[in-house]
Amino acid sequence: HQRIYISGVGASHPKKCVLNEDLPLHLNTSDEWIQQRTGIKQRYIIDEGEDIVSIASEALLKALKMAGINPLDLDAIILATTTPAMRMPSTASLIQNIIGNYRCTAFDIQVACAGFVTAIQIAYGFIFSGQFSKIAVIGADLMSKIIDWNDRSTCVLFGDGAGAIIIENKMEAELVYNAQNLMNNIDIDNFSKNSFYEKNLTVDYTNYNINSLNNKIISFNSEKVQDLNEKKYLFDSSGNIPQSGNIIDLVSYSHADLKDILYANCDGFITMKGINVFKHAVQELTFISRLLVKRNNLDISDISWVIPHQANKRILDAIASNLDISIDKFVITVNKYANTSAASIPMALDFLYHNGDSFYKRLSSGDLIIMLGVGSGMIFNGILLRW
Ligand code: ACO
Repeated sequence: HQRIYISGVGASHPKKCVLNEDLPLHLNTSDEWIQQRTGIKQRYIIDEGEDIVSIASEALLKALKMAGINPLDLDAIILATTTPAMRMPSTASLIQNIIGNYRCTAFDIQVACAGFVTAIQIAYGFIFSGQFSKIAVIGADLMSKIIDWNDRSTCVLFGDGAGAIIIENKMEAELVYNAQNLMNNIDIDNFSKNSFYEKNLTVDYTNYNINSLNNKIISFNSEKVQDLNEKKYLFDSSGNIPQSGNIIDLVSYSHADLKDILYANCDGFITMKGINVFKHAVQELTFISRLLVKRNNLDISDISWVIPHQANKRILDAIASNLDISIDKFVITVNKYANTSAASIPMALDFLYHNGDSFYKRLSSGDLIIMLGVGSGMIFNGILLRW
């Protein structure tokens, strides 16, 4: 296998938090019903001054910052979404405009809640073929725009959010290492971006000012180099690139005969046969987990983390029970964000990586992870990776 790395992770959600108790009275629902059936306690909903481009760009910039990558060095932006800002151009193009990169490619894919895993699979193919070496994969959805706020059986389930990762190949990681060595020897105070580039390095250690997003300008502050330390996870203690962090295996298939159990017409709202979605999600995601483990000669107990699409806590409980592994290995954010569709997996990965201390043991280098996607189609997919 090639060494294809996830080198940065970021997430973002709207400011406005809607608790179960805050849902409109006419819905005739209750915090107790929602929590018991779904595990959801709250969700974030888009408000004035926010849109899919602003939250997705913020998630992307956080991921770029963690990866230590200049936005201008991205080769591609792939956005998974079912709720684009407009029919065209793609929302990925609008994000590309925000980050000011006019040489990369940018496009959206629409695979409903399974979109993020599909987007990783596309990025993997691009990198594997040698065509691209640094790709931003974003999952972002504003589900609040396509739910009927009078339908209590669907509207309580969803929220808005965005998550992003950066995927790179090994060769680039080696360049980062060389760059890091170089950085150790140069005078940071007199650091100049141009002179750094003259050395033919593609990596620029800069700080992105996320607050300047409103002005549609990203300011580069080359004085701050704390991010250098964050890069160390790419290397083991002897400074070598570890055998970890790479995407190992991918699986995806669709049951088009299940198209009627979860859909939204172009100008309509989500319609769902909840119990059917529930059953198929449990069955297929259990199968995919077993397949990924078996065909890589692993045991299910080797898996440190499962990062599933966050539709419903009870679906996750059922998969954990089928696989006979502890639910504590499942990263669960559905309680905080509800179902954010294509954004749910990167938001959960971000939670594990950045906020994990309080509840989860922090993700460690070498951990085996399974990501599981499921969405309208129905499509089911999964990825095995070593962090
Ligand atoms: N508040 C109170 N009562 C409600 C609500 C609500 N928000 N929603 C439905 N009910 C009522 C129903 O009207 C029904 O009442 P009735 O018996 O008088 O007709 C009763 O609760 C039971 O409804 P069910 O649909 O049978 O409840 P169920 O136990 O199946 O739970 C749920 C519904 C939570 C949707 C469940 O089927 C489920 O989790 N399905 C998975 C689907 C899912 O999570 N989809 C997310 C999108 S899909 C994706 O991301 C891939």
